[in-house]
Amino acid sequence: MDVALKKRHVQRAYEFYAPVYDFIFDWIFAPGRSAAIAQLALQPTETVLEIGIGTGLNLPLYPATCRLTGIDLSEEMLDKAVERVGELAMPNVRLKVMDAASMDFADGEFDKALATYTISAVPDPVGVLREMRRVVKPGGTMVILNHFRSERRVAGRLEDLIAPVCTRLGWKSNLAMAPLLKKVDLVPEVVMKVNMFNGWRLIGCVNRK
Ligand SMILES: C[S@@+](CC[C@H](N)C(=O)[O-])C[C@H]1O[C@@H](n2cnc3c(N)ncnc32)[C@H](O)[C@@H]1O
Repeated sequence: MDVALKKRHVQRAYEFYAPVYDFIFDWIFAPGRSAAIAQLALQPTETVLEIGIGTGLNLPLYPATCRLTGIDLSEEMLDKAVERVGELAMPNVRLKVMDAASMDFADGEFDKALATYTISAVPDPVGVLREMRRVVKPGGTMVILNHFRSERRVAGRLEDLIAPVCTRLGWKSNLAMAPLLKKVDLVPEVVMKVNMFNGWRLIGCVNRK
C-alpha cells in the first residue's frame, strides 16, 4: 500500500515532536551531523542554506563566520531553532518558515546547501532537491544526510512494510537513494555510511549545471 506523505502530515507530526525532538534525536544522529558539516567545508563568509533546519541541532557545529539561512515547514520546530540562535548568539543566522519545494530565494543565491535527516520527511523529495539545485550556485556544494531504503532484500522489504505507519508519523522509511538522485540529475562525489549500524548515508554533490 502506498500512502503519500502530505504537507499536513508533516506539519502535524512536527508540531507534536517539537517539544521532545532534541531529547530523542540528538544523540542518535550526532555523528552524522558532525560529518555533514565537515563535508560542507565552509570557508569564511560563505553563504549556506539549511533545508528543514528543525530545532537547529546543527547550529553549534557551524563556523561562527558563516552566513546561514535556515528554513522549515514547521513553525513549532523553527521556534526552537530561534531560541537556540539566541542562546548561541549567532548574528549571521536568519530563519524562515518556508516550504523547501517552493522557496522564495533567487537562483544561485547560496554557495552551499545542507539537508540533514530531512529528505525522507518532505512530501516531495524530488521537488525539494530540484529547488535545492536551483538556489545553489553552479559549482556549489550540496550535502544530504539521510536514511534511505536498504539495498538488502529483507531489510528493504521490511522498510516497505512499515512505510504506511511511518508516513503517518511524518517520514518515509523506504525512500530509495539512487532513483531519487537520478531524477534530479545529481551524481554524488562522496557517499559515506554514518551513525548507528552504518544505517544512514552522507552524500556530497557538486551542483553541476
Ligand atoms: C527529521 S526533522 C530533521 C530536522 C533537522 N534537519 C535535524 O537534523 O535535526 C525533518 C524536518 O524537515 C521539515 N520539513 C518537512 N517537509 C518540509 C518542507 N517541505 N520544507 C521545509 N521543511 C520541511 C520538518 O518540519 C522537520 O523539521
